[in-house]
Amino acid sequence: MKALVSADVFPATQHYTYLNAASVAPMSKMAAKATLDWQEDLALRGTVHFDEEAETRVFDSLREVGARLLGSGADEIAGASNASESLCSIAWALSPGPDKNVVSSRIEFPSVVYPWLRVARTTGCQVRLTRDENHVIDPDELVGLIDDQTSAVCISHVQYSTGQRLDVRALADVAHGHGALLIVDATQSAGAVPLDVVADDVDILVTSGYKWLCGPFGAAMLFVRRALHDMLEPGLVGWRSTSTVFDFQADALQWAPSASRFEFGTLAYGCTIGMMTAIEHLLEVGIEEIHRYDLALAARLAEGLADLGAEFVTPSPHELLSSIVTARFPGQDQARVARRLNEEGVVVSPRIGAVRFAPHLYNTVEDIDQALDCLKVILAES
Ligand SMILES: Cc1ncc(COP(=O)(O)O)c(C=O)c1O
Repeated sequence: MKALVSADVFPATQHYTYLNAASVAPMSKMAAKATLDWQEDLALRGTVHFDEEAETRVFDSLREVGARLLGSGADEIAGASNASESLCSIAWALSPGPDKNVVSSRIEFPSVVYPWLRVARTTGCQVRLTRDENHVIDPDELVGLIDDQTSAVCISHVQYSTGQRLDVRALADVAHGHGALLIVDATQSAGAVPLDVVADDVDILVTSGYKWLCGPFGAAMLFVRRALHDMLEPGLVGWRSTSTVFDFQADALQWAPSASRFEFGTLAYGCTIGMMTAIEHLLEVGIEEIHRYDLALAARLAEGLADLGAEFVTPSPHELLSSIVTARFPGQDQARVARRLNEEGVVVSPRIGAVRFAPHLYNTVEDIDQALDCLKVILAES
C-alpha cells in the first residue's frame, strides 16, 4: 500500500511512529506555518495588518472550508476555541425544562455529557445515559431512551475510547420522530470519516481541531443548522455575538443572524487559521481517500495485534468503521505496555485499562509493522 502523503508534509512522522491522532495529531508543515506566521504578523505589526475589518472577517475562510468539510452552508459554521465550549453554549441555549430529557451515554467523553448535567442542576431536566457493556454502546438501548420529552440526543459520532462509530442518520431519524434535536460531537471523526450534515440530517455538530483535523490547540468548529439560528440564544455571549461586531451597543443584544452568534469573544485567531489550512490540505487529499487509507492501516494493525494475542475493546475490529483500535494484552500491565511503546517512539495512549492506537493519513504500512515489531518485544519483557 502506497503512502498517502509524502513524509515531509508531517515532520513529526520522521521522528516517531505516531499512532495517536485520537489524542492529538501532529500538524502538517503548512498548518504549523500558517499558525506561526499569523502570530508573528500580530507580534510585529499589531493592528496595522490585523485591523478591525480583518478581525471582523477573520472566520470567513473557515466558514467556506468548514462548509466543504461538512456539506453545510458557510453561514451555518462558527469558529470556536474548543469543542467543550461549544457544547456548553449549546446546552445553555437549549436549557431543557424540568419535564424534558437529554439522551447520551455513560461512556461518552465527559464534555459531551457534563454541560447537560450542569444545566440539569438549574432546570431540573433529566439526563438519560445508556449503560455500558464492555465500553460499547448498544444503539438500540440508546434509541430506547428517546421519547416525546427528549429535547436532544447528544452523542459522539466516533467514541473516543474504542472508535465505535454510530449511525448518525438512524439516530437523526429517531430523534426527529420525537421532536428532538441531534447534536453530534465529531471530534473523533472529522478529518478521518466523511461527514455530510445534510444527508445525515444533523442539527448541530461540533469538532475540535487538534485531533483528526490535524490542526493546533485552541481552534474548533461548530455547525448549527440554519433553521435553528433564530431559535437558539447561545449560552456564552459577548461582543462578537452580534452582526455588527465593532458597533458596540451594550444596551442592545442583537444576535448575529447566523451560526456566528456562537462566536462570543476574541479567539485564538491564528489557531483558527492553522486549523483551516489543515482542513484545506485534508480536503485536497480527499476525506474518502483518507478514510479508506486509515481503515486499511487499522485493519492491518488489528490483524497483527490479534496475532500477538490481543483482546479487542474496539467492537468488531475486523469490520472497522473508524481507525481507532483499542486492545488489551492478557497478563500484561496495560499502562506499562503503553508507556514502553511511547519510550520506544511508538506514540499511543493508555485508555480504559487498554492501549489505544489511532493511525491517520501520515502513517504508512511500515509504521504499523514497526509498532507491531516493537510491541512483540515489549510483551516478551514481562
Ligand atoms: C469526543 C470528544 N469530544 C471532545 C473532546 C475534547 O475537545 P476540546 O478539548 O476541544 O474541548 C475530546 C477529546 O478527547 C473528545 O474525544
